[in-house]
Amino acid sequence: MDFDIKYNDFRQEVRTYCEEKIAPHAVEVDREQFYSKDVHKVINDKGWWGSIVPKEYGGLGLSTLEYAIIVEEISRVCGSTGLTFAAHNSLGTYPINAFGTEEQRRKYLPPAAERGALIAFGLTEPEAGSDAGGTKSRAEKTADGYLVNGTKCWITSAEVCEYSIITARTSDEGGVHGISSFVIEKGMEGFSIGKHENKLGCRGSNTAFMHFDDLKISDWHLMGKEGEGFKQFMITLDGGRISIGAMGIGLAQAALELAAKQAEARLENGKPISRHQSVQFMLADMATQVEAARLIMYKTAWLKDNGHKHTKISAMCKLYASEVAHYCTDKAIQILGLDGYTERYPAERYYRDMKLCEIGEGTSEVQRIVIAREVLKELAGA
Ligand code: CAA
Repeated sequence: MDFDIKYNDFRQEVRTYCEEKIAPHAVEVDREQFYSKDVHKVINDKGWWGSIVPKEYGGLGLSTLEYAIIVEEISRVCGSTGLTFAAHNSLGTYPINAFGTEEQRRKYLPPAAERGALIAFGLTEPEAGSDAGGTKSRAEKTADGYLVNGTKCWITSAEVCEYSIITARTSDEGGVHGISSFVIEKGMEGFSIGKHENKLGCRGSNTAFMHFDDLKISDWHLMGKEGEGFKQFMITLDGGRISIGAMGIGLAQAALELAAKQAEARLENGKPISRHQSVQFMLADMATQVEAARLIMYKTAWLKDNGHKHTKISAMCKLYASEVAHYCTDKAIQILGLDGYTERYPAERYYRDMKLCEIGEGTSEVQRIVIAREVLKELAGA
């Protein structure tokens, strides 16, 4: 497995760009809690909004592995931007390409890839979070389409997106098999954006409610077939979880670098605190965990790129990388001492941004459920 070596140059190029163009905005977007048009342009200049969109629809057609490296490097300098970027690509462009009709692909993917027309992922509802199958939003069949009513919450980029894919129940029969998915557009009558969330971390990424009040859409907006929505969204999350893993690794890497640098710079009794074994043990554990999480990420992305089922390992990737991010951002603050507890250093931002990784795109508890179910299936020979 030569992942690391093969992608070294690519990673270095992405890193340099992120350090020069995205890092300078990280403090401001976090402090002021806004989605930055300047950062949007910086990403657009590289074509990264279309990272995994095939070239025929205006994208770069990168592999999942290359895309994950971009997510990691963006998150290393700005967790907020990493989240917006990951949600648009993994949860927006991917499902339209994978499950949309050819007409939907031709309509939505070129603007998404070529100018970063953001696509949101409308799954979660006030009464359907971890239990995504508990979707209450409804799409009643009409003569030539659907009448949609319901509410979605915790939607990344809700206020700044141009399109969204959503789930809604089209049948009361068959539990999750009665859920369908649709692509909708901003400006449609009956589609409005609700309360803006002020968050603990990733504050430069936009999060708000979406409301559907007698939203009329034609049959054209259905993605795939009726009843396939839940499965489509679960498959999409199998990919999305790789990118949240990548985001966690980026934050963990940033925390490790900052901690190591400050351990060398901070003196006690005239000596750098890096000379203390207690500090070295923390740095060693951080570095080891980052390395292991990155290897899982590489393997998961490789499996996806080569058409293998990756439900279990995606959940492992997200779970492990999120917990590594928790450990590393926590220890970075510990090594910096009270300096790390202030805005003087970005350690506290890394710590706040990290928390999203343990909740968004399925909590750590959901990941454990997914992993355990897959392990039991494998042991039963299913
Ligand atoms: N791939 C393919 N099919 C899948 C699948 C997958 N990964 N996962 C489930 N399915 C299929 C099953 O095979 C099953 O199909 P059959 O009935 O035909 O056999 C069907 O879907 C139902 O599966 P389950 O019985 O496993 O469904 P469940 O109701 O028990 O749910 C769950 C399982 C794993 C807990 C799921 O509800 C889940 O993942 N919940 C978390 C939701 C989530 O991650 N939300 C994040 C929202 S997005 C976000 O946060 C982004 C952001 O903006 C920050």
